[in-house]
Amino acid sequence: MKIAVTGATGQLGQLVVEQLKKRVSNSDIIALARNTEKAAKLGVEVREFDYNKADTLTESLQGIDNLLLISGNEFGSRAQQHTNVIRAAKQAGVKWIVYTSLLRVDTTSLNIAAEHIATEKVLRESGVEYTLLRNGWYSENYTASIPGAIGGGAFLGSASEGKIASAPRADYAEAAAIVLSDESYKGKTYDLAGDEYYTLSDLAAEISKQVDKTIPYNNIPEQEYANILKNIGLPESLADGLASWDVSASKGDLYDETHQLSELLGRPTTPIADSVKAAVEQMAN
Ligand SMILES: NC(=O)c1ccc[n+]([C@@H]2O[C@H](COP(=O)([O-])OP(=O)(O)OC[C@H]3O[C@@H](n4cnc5c(N)ncnc54)[C@H](OP(=O)(O)O)[C@@H]3O)[C@@H](O)[C@H]2O)c1
Repeated sequence: MKIAVTGATGQLGQLVVEQLKKRVSNSDIIALARNTEKAAKLGVEVREFDYNKADTLTESLQGIDNLLLISGNEFGSRAQQHTNVIRAAKQAGVKWIVYTSLLRVDTTSLNIAAEHIATEKVLRESGVEYTLLRNGWYSENYTASIPGAIGGGAFLGSASEGKIASAPRADYAEAAAIVLSDESYKGKTYDLAGDEYYTLSDLAAEISKQVDKTIPYNNIPEQEYANILKNIGLPESLADGLASWDVSASKGDLYDETHQLSELLGRPTTPIADSVKAAVEQMAN
């Protein structure tokens, strides 16, 4: 059984390959990457794979049984890119596609949902067997702001007291590897998120505890937050995105209480305190 992973050089993809190595033989894992040099360190077979090069994808998928399609990171191009991959997979005779979608994609207010909805539709209509891993928020999306919060003396955001049930990439990656290496997961749809929720006030309190310094949470209007992010150098689209995603968080769109991720993992998800600890330790190095 040959298992291939797209975006294998990305932060999630690398963790999935690592987890797959624990479950299947290295010779059954194929890393698909647009930058094959970057993928060489993964220690498995590497094939060139650029979502935009539709004509080349079928060749790269020859002999693949199970494919993890990790959603791309070029907002606005992803529906077409994913369609290219799904069409190629069908042509190449791939038996099963596992796709990383978005938590409660059909009802969320998150503005990134449309491309996932479009991809799920293409999958449904493709005739290829598939499984949907509707991933919730990565804890790292918030812990990445810890250095800025410590430097600026406050954790800023627009999420109000919205409940956030995130999990680190490593948890989602482990779940993907579990699913990919067991065909009994074919045809299923999972909404994946952390077991425990926190608000950004809770997160600021946890950071304060761990760094022994009071870091309050300052909730500010969406536009003000986006402007601050632009002023510190974030690209406009990302700054606007982060602010709008916080507003979705305030509406409960990053919250989930179904515990499907921990069920897949067979253990509790990693608490936010552990992700804060990892981020603080990384700052010290
Ligand atoms: N749930 C969440 O909180 C959350 C947060 C952020 C993103 N996401 C989604 O989850 C995906 C994985 O997350 P991540 O943290 O691993 O993101 P990431 O580190 O940015 O990885 C994205 C991967 O996609 C690859 N890629 C981008 N464009 C491509 C193309 N045209 N052809 C082939 N490969 C392409 C990148 O290749 P290179 O290595 O060559 O750059 C990289 O390997 C993201 O792409 C995004 O769709 C989810």
